Amino acid sequence: GGITTIDPGYKNTGSCESAITYLDGEKGILRYRGYSIESLAEKADFLEVAYLLIFGELPTKVELEKFHADIKAESHVDEDMKKILDGFPKSAHPMGVLSALTSALIAFNPTSVNVDSEEDMYKTIVKLLAKFPVLASWALRKKKSQPLDYGDNNLGYVANLHKMMFSKPNQDYKVDQSIIDALDKLLILHADHEQNCSTSTVRMVGSAHAGLFASTSAGISALWGPLHGGANQAVIEMLEAIKEDGGDTKKYMAKAKDKKDPFRLMGFGHRVYKNFDPRAKIIKVAADDVLNMLGIEDPVLDIAKGLEKEALEDPYFVDRKLYPNVDFYSGIIYRALGIPVEMFTVMFALGRLPGWIAQWKEMRERKEPIGRPRQVYIGENLREFRPVSER
Ligand code: CMC
Repeated sequence: GGITTIDPGYKNTGSCESAITYLDGEKGILRYRGYSIESLAEKADFLEVAYLLIFGELPTKVELEKFHADIKAESHVDEDMKKILDGFPKSAHPMGVLSALTSALIAFNPTSVNVDSEEDMYKTIVKLLAKFPVLASWALRKKKSQPLDYGDNNLGYVANLHKMMFSKPNQDYKVDQSIIDALDKLLILHADHEQNCSTSTVRMVGSAHAGLFASTSAGISALWGPLHGGANQAVIEMLEAIKEDGGDTKKYMAKAKDKKDPFRLMGFGHRVYKNFDPRAKIIKVAADDVLNMLGIEDPVLDIAKGLEKEALEDPYFVDRKLYPNVDFYSGIIYRALGIPVEMFTVMFALGRLPGWIAQWKEMRERKEPIGRPRQVYIGENLREFRPVSER
């Protein structure tokens, strides 16, 4: 029989059972495998959090060392992949490059589609975690017309990512550990967020038993959208526009409240969080720390803080439960770290990768059925076909 009700945007539809991430939007609670986001952001490192999300428990020292060693051993990307990179114009958006290269990886790693045994599943996961940062660094280097950096296997996962992205040609590479720590924290804050658009995409594509790399490539495409991960780029562009216009935050608050004006305060509001976004609280403090540490005075940070203060006291925002979300301050940190605006969403993807992997693995291990929603048909009833000569 046909179905009669629909739920656009799946606002009230649960698509799966999951033991990975707990989220309470009323109370502003976010936990990975039972650990609060606050404690993980404060005390854990990104690779530990990746292990926790994917395998369910925090690793022991030995497990973590093995995990890292296995990743290092897989961190090479086939030389022929560079020909694909070379084929892109410099103007290509890094998210498009990342999605295409992730898909292309399948051709060079054909065994990555074998995941039936625990061992094969592990190998495939390690391959993706190892090669993904390499591809992300390629996307950035393409934008900057810089030669590739092959990284340094003596470095930690995030430190190596930083080197591959930011080392300068013909200069010794040096970085302050506090910069690596800030980047690590940002990646942790983005690592999972239950059944959001890109994660649901990864699960949906994977539910047809497409491989992990193909499913991840689809997730990257979903994340690219400005209503999702692409919002971090939109926030910094909005803050810049306010600055260029003389920094009059009140004027833009009025625009955001004006129902005839399509302008929205980017980085405000969330589908699930109706009290506060716990990630935004942590990021706001981190933004202050990073800018202080680097001795950067970014007028855009003051504009952001001004907007937040006004919004939190404004009945329009209070009544609608609109608070800063994860994207409101993240761009300010990325920019301070020297990351071009077009790379912001790639940074989000690097953080979200363990979440996509964990959700994909859980979906396969629980033997979820193929994703196949129904619809309510609203088209024509039966019609008689007439050949083109009679139309
Ligand atoms: N500025 C001004 N008004 C807003 C805003 C905003 N940013 N967000 C929501 N509203 C108003 C909206 O006009 C509506 O008012 P009314 O009830 O009078 O019609 C009310 O608040 C409820 O909004 P909604 O659009 O029905 O809520 P939603 O849950 O469907 O949308 C949202 C959530 C995040 C899409 C939306 O708040 C928004 O567009 N925010 C700006 C974009 C943004 O920052 N996105 C990042 C999301 S978090 C990270 C991620 O997903 O990657």
